[in-house]
Amino acid sequence: MHALDGQTHADTRPTAVIATGGTISMLADPASGVRRPVLTGAALADGLTGLSAPLTHLQPYAIASEDATFAHWLTLVQEIVRLTPGHHGVVVMHGTDTMEEAAYFISECVPRAAVALCGAMRPPGRPGYDGGQNLMDAVTVARDPLARTLGTVVVMNHEVLPAWDVVKRDSVALSSFATRHGTRIGTVHDRQLRLLSRPLELNWIGQIPTEAPDPDAVAYVRMTGSPGPTRFAEAIRGAAGIVVDALGAGSIPAAVRSDLIGAAGRVPVVLTTRTGSGPVQAEESYPHAWDDLISAGVLLEKRLDGPRARIRLSLSLSLGRPYTPLEPL
Ligand code: SIN
Repeated sequence: MHALDGQTHADTRPTAVIATGGTISMLADPASGVRRPVLTGAALADGLTGLSAPLTHLQPYAIASEDATFAHWLTLVQEIVRLTPGHHGVVVMHGTDTMEEAAYFISECVPRAAVALCGAMRPPGRPGYDGGQNLMDAVTVARDPLARTLGTVVVMNHEVLPAWDVVKRDSVALSSFATRHGTRIGTVHDRQLRLLSRPLELNWIGQIPTEAPDPDAVAYVRMTGSPGPTRFAEAIRGAAGIVVDALGAGSIPAAVRSDLIGAAGRVPVVLTTRTGSGPVQAEESYPHAWDDLISAGVLLEKRLDGPRARIRLSLSLSLGRPYTPLEPL
């Protein structure tokens, strides 16, 4: 039997579980009823029948992930580097609202580490609480012998999804997590990982900054029809880099185009698409439509969404590297 189909593992090292807060850990305060991220990874794991893997637990912080910063994610990267040699994979319990960005940040910095992020769409005690199952599945993935070849993945609702492509696409559904381009790596059920596809080998940054990137360095603007030129100019003024979620395959309205082209002469400008899937690219059907942007140095990002391009550009700036679009090797 292949290891992915449930073979017992010879590696007896524990798996590290890093708890950071999020709905997976939100217990209601008995007096006020307000939920706070106080359930630890150890307490959650202790209550799970069937989770027999040896685990070590740590909790560098406990927050709702709306408050997560680059500094929090750099802390996770540093812990993952510290824990990896003595552990059989690392699980990160994270709030779902920014889980895809945390996963991407980790993947950019330590692309070869075996990391599985999980969380919950329902808080503990509510019908359908999914935190225990997701933790169990994430441990299964992190402990799989092939986990290192998967890099950083998100494990939610039995799905194993790659950090570069996973998105929370529904605000409330248990099946919220999917990928923009349909790049599902596998499923996990009854403590067995079933691989469905190999993750792409990508040109990850593969470097860890000594300090967290400046979250104000990059201006991130989502394009709309009838954009306000004055507002747009204000949004990009003084930025060290700019990411614009363009329309369609990269369309930029005339109202803001010359400002963006002017900025591209000074700082890196990256175009992503706001459509939810597909690349930004000069299309054969519209010859020369992107010529002015390309000759100004605007970079066309074919794989990442805007928030992830913002992370890649922020990391690149803090490491003193040029931005290169995410590409298969
Ligand atoms: C959070 O992201 O911390 C709250 C929402 C969630 O975990 O589902």
